[in-house]
Amino acid sequence: MKLDPNTLRADFPILDREIHGHPLAYLDNAASSQKPVAVIEAIDRFYRAHYANIHRGVHTLSEEATVAYEAARDKVAAFINAPDRRGVIFTRNATEAINLVAYAWGRTNVGPGDRVVVTEMEHHSNIVPWQMLTQEVGADLVTFATTDEGRLDLDDLDRALDGPVKLLAFSHVSNVLGTVNPAREITARAHAAGAQVLIDAAQSVPHLPVDVQALDCDFLAFSGHKMCGPSGVGALYGRPEILEAMPPFMGGGGMIRRVTCEESAWASLPAKFEAGTPAIAEAVGLGAAVDYLSDVGMAAIWAHERELAAYALERLAELDAENSCMRVLGPPAGERCGLVSFTVAGIHPHDLAQVLDWEGVAIRAGHHCAQPLHQRCGLTASARASFYLYNTRDEIDRLIVGIRKAQDMF
Ligand SMILES: Cc1ncc(COP(=O)(O)O)c(C=O)c1O
Repeated sequence: MKLDPNTLRADFPILDREIHGHPLAYLDNAASSQKPVAVIEAIDRFYRAHYANIHRGVHTLSEEATVAYEAARDKVAAFINAPDRRGVIFTRNATEAINLVAYAWGRTNVGPGDRVVVTEMEHHSNIVPWQMLTQEVGADLVTFATTDEGRLDLDDLDRALDGPVKLLAFSHVSNVLGTVNPAREITARAHAAGAQVLIDAAQSVPHLPVDVQALDCDFLAFSGHKMCGPSGVGALYGRPEILEAMPPFMGGGGMIRRVTCEESAWASLPAKFEAGTPAIAEAVGLGAAVDYLSDVGMAAIWAHERELAAYALERLAELDAENSCMRVLGPPAGERCGLVSFTVAGIHPHDLAQVLDWEGVAIRAGHHCAQPLHQRCGLTASARASFYLYNTRDEIDRLIVGIRKAQDMF
């Protein structure tokens, strides 16, 4: 069913705010999303009535908190169709999930001369941990290319995979180009080459139906704050048999079965990878976000965002038709998610974002944590408008009016 953003907006109190005397048009969802009342209240309720530390307590509150925390894990597992809840590890965010794999799996499975492959369109979170790993163990980090149209160059994938490749790590959806990568095909090709696969799903899990079994990936990472959940919690999905074989990431309370002064034995999954007191209330909030998104329907959210992206591209093309001022990054509508990055001739993206803020329109400007991709595009920065379930065509119209104002000014 088609969603009605105007109805959904009522669920998000912050959208009632005015910024510089204008109603807020929040178009920075790829950086982080806003939170519905259902999530805010779930966290509030949890702190007011059920909060205690989890797992080790025998008292009622600890049991209630444990049940709520583990119920959130079940919700997240179902949301991504994980075959086994033990394969869902709560982390702080996608970045920590990727680092967990780079440390615990990478330091055990990647050695001198081995190869780790990433793409040119990665967020720094899916580049830097692999640089640190490969530099430390003497492995090679190989990048496969992006075409001028902003797609992954699948012809170049064969070259990248031709060698002792241990892992391919790539983003499902680009946070700059908006490209939706053919994740299933890429994963199958990497597996055929003997590599394991990590999908950075930070920009896909919040926006489209994601099924880890259909993708057949070995690891998948995402953040709660980009999907209507609180900051401070994210998740790593891993195949349980791979997670079982990995050493822990961090040591401490909660991740052990037994400790002596000399040595320790690890807890079973998922606790083995959740050392210390986790983000308990945040996980509960993420569970509420998953419920909220599921109620709206991921297919409807995806359709809405793609429609908004197509509309934004159309409107930006109108501006360009007037004075060839626009450069829009990424593939055409139909191949992309609900975000559009662009530059406007003669206006630095930061100046543009500043002028738009005066109009109440929140966009992002900069390299969006993807400097290699910007270098590939011959840019140091771009402006990015990114949409979610509560955004409307009107807000895109206001973006266009704001760009015109900036053009008049500069
Ligand atoms: C594609 C991609 N990967 C990873 C991340 C990192 O997410 P976080 O900062 O929540 O760890 C982001 C955030 O913008 C992203 O867009």
